[in-house]
Amino acid sequence: MLRFPGQGPVTPDDIVIGPLDLAARIDEALAVQALAFGLGSDEIAVRRQIVLRHLAYPGARALGATTADGRLVGFVYGMPNDRTHWWSTVVEPYLRGQGSDGWLDDSFVITELHVHPGFQNQGVGRALITTITDSAAQPRSILSAIDTESPARGLYRSLGYEDLARQVLFPSAPKPYAVMGAPLPLRRR
Ligand SMILES: CC(C)(COP(=O)(O)OP(=O)(O)OC[C@H]1O[C@@H](n2cnc3c(N)ncnc32)[C@H](O)[C@@H]1OP(=O)(O)O)[C@@H](O)C(=O)NCCC(=O)NCCS
Repeated sequence: MLRFPGQGPVTPDDIVIGPLDLAARIDEALAVQALAFGLGSDEIAVRRQIVLRHLAYPGARALGATTADGRLVGFVYGMPNDRTHWWSTVVEPYLRGQGSDGWLDDSFVITELHVHPGFQNQGVGRALITTITDSAAQPRSILSAIDTESPARGLYRSLGYEDLARQVLFPSAPKPYAVMGAPLPLRRR
């Protein structure tokens, strides 16, 4: 069953959402991300360094989705946005062009969200992102997702995220991204 701290089960899967020591379980998390997002071994090595750097930022937090036998099948992490962070400096001109760069202040950034393909579409991703943002001190949340009609974009929209900028180009990323923002707490079904 999917359980949240202090709440009853909400889906029929034996998965628990809880705090994750992402630095300690980085290899398991990156294995999930590699399957979910399609990363090669070179990209995984690069991601490892980036994630470990992110975890040193003030307020960075991670949650994991774990099976009864302790297997990590999903994770999310994020942090309060800081306009000096690389991600924020890349998206800022696009948001400013739309008059929406105020979203970069007092906002909790979802940096990564991934669910193992064998466990998708069971509410795990929704539980991870709502649980981590529920405990954010900020009144809103921002993120970027590949600018295509993906399950991720569908999930984010259903949670109240709206497009703040489209066709955002990150150096070295092959595809353009959309930047999305939502008020907190995220919308419930
Ligand atoms: C995005 C992702 C984390 C969602 O996790 P998940 O556990 O499968 O999602 P949930 O089961 O909680 O929510 C499913 C929601 O996704 C959306 N969704 C699922 N499949 C969809 C599709 N084919 N088209 C549009 N929306 C879809 C729906 O909004 C659905 O909500 P519903 O339950 O009301 O139907 C997961 O699909 C994933 O890891 N994808 C690959 C990696 C990725 O893209 N990560 C995000 C990077 S920005």
